[in-house]
Amino acid sequence: MNYSDEELYSLVNKAVKVFYDKVYEDPWMKEVFKVIKQEIIESQQTDFMVAAFGGPKRYCGRSPKDAHLHIFVDDEMWDHRERTLELSLREALTDEELITKWLRIDEAFRHAIVRKNAGECSKRYAGDEIINVPAPFKKAA
Ligand code: HEM
Repeated sequence: MNYSDEELYSLVNKAVKVFYDKVYEDPWMKEVFKVIKQEIIESQQTDFMVAAFGGPKRYCGRSPKDAHLHIFVDDEMWDHRERTLELSLREALTDEELITKWLRIDEAFRHAIVRKNAGECSKRYAGDEIINVPAPFKKAA
């Protein structure tokens, strides 16, 4: 894994776009991502991952912990997103080392984002909305 800043940015951006194309088509995740425009999250996520890979530090948003305080993500949603991410990375990239590193970095944030129940969510600012979207097509217990 030895890329120029431009190569790294372009590879990450390509994979991020494939990923969010799937996210915004996904019956569950598209409901969660209604609050943000696809091109904005793509740009934020690209800057975030480029910095995480040691490239230019352009990302200036919240930390993943603070950025998701208001979103109820349980392990099921996390695993669902993770499968979509892995599929997207394999579709967009050929560098196995980059894919493995990406998935490892991503997984490191699970404990900061996943919660046991929606009551653990909090508003980031007064007037913020808690996002709590149950899995679609789930059979009643
Ligand atoms: C199932 C897991 C996840 C879901 C459902 C999710 C969903 C979201 C949503 C809906 C937003 C927009 C929030 C808003 O503007 O109200 C957001 C922002 C963001 N997410 Fe995630 N996310 C997840 C995991 C992750 C992970 C693992 C990372 C990093 C590796 C990440 C990085 C970001 C970044 C950088 C932003 C932008 C924050 C900002 O602009 O301040 N997300 N996420």
